Amino acid sequence: MSEKIQKQIETMRSDLNDNAYHYYVLDDPTISDVEYDKLYHELVELENQYPEYISDDSPTQRVGDKPLDGFKQIQHEIPMLSLGNVFSEEELIDFDKRLLDLAELTEIKYSAEPKLDGLAVSIVYVNGKLQQAATRGDGAVGEDITANVKTIKAIPLSLRGNELPEKLEVRGEVIMSRKGFDEYNRQAELLGEKTFANPRNAAAGSLRQLDPRKTAKRPLMFYAYSIGVVSEELPFNTHLETLNWVKSLGIPVNAFNQICIGALGCQKFHQMIGDVRSTLDYDIDGVVYKVNDLALQKKLGFVTKSPRWATAHKFPAEEATTTIENIDVQVGRTGSITPVARLKPVVVGGVTVTNATLHNKDEIRRKDVRIGDRVFVRRAGDVIPEVVKVIKQKRPKDSVEFIMPTHCPVCETELHKIEGEAVLRCPAGLFCDAQRKEAIKHFASRKALDIEGLGDKLVELMVDEGLIKTPADLFHLDKQEVSDLERMGEKSATNLLASIESSKHTSLDKFIYALGIREVGEATALTLAQQLKDIHIVAKTTAEDLEELPDIGPIVAKRITQFFADEHNLAVIEQLLDAGITWDKIETPTKESQPLLGKTIVLTGSLSQYTRATAKSKLIELGAKVAGSVSKNTDMLVAGEKAGSKLTKAVKLGIEIKDEQWLVDL
Ligand code: IVH
Repeated sequence: MSEKIQKQIETMRSDLNDNAYHYYVLDDPTISDVEYDKLYHELVELENQYPEYISDDSPTQRVGDKPLDGFKQIQHEIPMLSLGNVFSEEELIDFDKRLLDLAELTEIKYSAEPKLDGLAVSIVYVNGKLQQAATRGDGAVGEDITANVKTIKAIPLSLRGNELPEKLEVRGEVIMSRKGFDEYNRQAELLGEKTFANPRNAAAGSLRQLDPRKTAKRPLMFYAYSIGVVSEELPFNTHLETLNWVKSLGIPVNAFNQICIGALGCQKFHQMIGDVRSTLDYDIDGVVYKVNDLALQKKLGFVTKSPRWATAHKFPAEEATTTIENIDVQVGRTGSITPVARLKPVVVGGVTVTNATLHNKDEIRRKDVRIGDRVFVRRAGDVIPEVVKVIKQKRPKDSVEFIMPTHCPVCETELHKIEGEAVLRCPAGLFCDAQRKEAIKHFASRKALDIEGLGDKLVELMVDEGLIKTPADLFHLDKQEVSDLERMGEKSATNLLASIESSKHTSLDKFIYALGIREVGEATALTLAQQLKDIHIVAKTTAEDLEELPDIGPIVAKRITQFFADEHNLAVIEQLLDAGITWDKIETPTKESQPLLGKTIVLTGSLSQYTRATAKSKLIELGAKVAGSVSKNTDMLVAGEKAGSKLTKAVKLGIEIKDEQWLVDL
């Protein structure tokens, strides 16, 4: 009996470990999270009944039960070095040239890898069992964080395979996923606990946590990028072969790692990773190039604290600290009131940032943001800059709490809070000058009527000067009045009127989009145009019937009917049509309207501007075939946020990768 129980425990343990390998290393889970949890709890119960069969490397033994007093110091047998840097293509070319000269070669193959933005960790396995884990520390001496590292599920407690070296040190980066970080901070804010400025600090803080039970709750990940001490000579000639072996032992290795030839190959990799950076679920701060040939690495050797055979190529930082000089509110096109922090100018991600959104009142309260505060701001990709965190230690004594206005700062109408919505709204609609301005800007914008030369400032000026009140007024402008505006003159006025005139010929979907109906973006506008084909039919369709159309839910349907129930909106539409706005009848697609004809495209990750179904129908409309999985027949991958294995596979197969914006632009 007891032998049978022991066997059963061992089988369950190995099933769980196998699954962790498939999940974390191969990125290809074989059972669902629920099944995993069930199996895990069954093992816990069995082990409780038969504690004599518990082994150190059982997945149930990841979390110890008591906090530590402090961290022991650990001397690294081989120092943990840092990396030199290049900051531009020229410096990269110099780096490659220097190595070519030293090596007397005409071409060098590099292992190009993402530079993970977390904390360097050394993990020592003895006879295949995780024995010790340490931070990098000053490179020579680090801290013993074994108990904490054991709680990271991606790191195996015992290695796979039979022919294991007696001792093997794996080095890599512990990181926190962006999603995990956001969730952690949200929770911490709610509980009034300490929040972190970024995932790197969160990963570092979690590893330096004296209570491993707390570390266990943090969503940490790990990727190995090199090996340290190893008790026997390994049969590999290259760095990437070594990493592949490490992966086969059950330790995650980043899937973007690849061979690149020369400075040109490296530069291409830098560009490609830069393009997919915002879609990854973890932070990277650049890429790393390492000479792949181990014999050549040895020949090239080291400079003081870093290898001569490797370098980091950084990206512009996505985060910076600055001071909030003021907070005020912005009135959006649909009346939404958004608090905005006016910042002391600071360069983030290569762009000077002076404003950052604070989203809404609740967000200000949760983050406890005050005027005068020193803050972290983040600007990732094309996303609007936001205030991530206040540096409380640097709060000045005279910091001022921001109080949300009760009345619209532009038209003075009392603001409304709508049930279930976090934002305040100005209900005045087009009677509010701010909303009027935004509505006209939207009407003239590129994806709407695309009126060239009608920039935001000019719209504001024309509204302020009383030249226009609605989009329809644009079509009855007096040339002399326009030319009299500040910084205009006759030539500009003539040009503007000409481009307004030529904007009159548009398409029905652009016209619907241009109306600025809440919740009606380009995709919905296109659906309405294609399905209903006539603006008067769109205006008369009931909410019930609208809900029958693809991707239109009850909320959107209600917004549409509300918009067309407003006499004022109907009047403006008639004025626009009277002014001569026209569009062609909706036709069956032509080659020109189908630039993706014959292309097989895969969608992955989460999209922010379209639902998955809309994105798919858009692609089909553009002529593409949409497939579910990536193969060598795939022509393109459209990757949204937090794309996973499909993205990695596509990169490996050299498939063209596009982001959501590309689809939107198309
Ligand atoms: S190799 C001798 N590879 O960057 C070279 N480092 O600035 C040892 N890092 O302390 C490092 N991703 O924490 C290497 N793919 C990667 C990396 C990486 C992130 C970190 C690591 C190291 C620091 C050096």
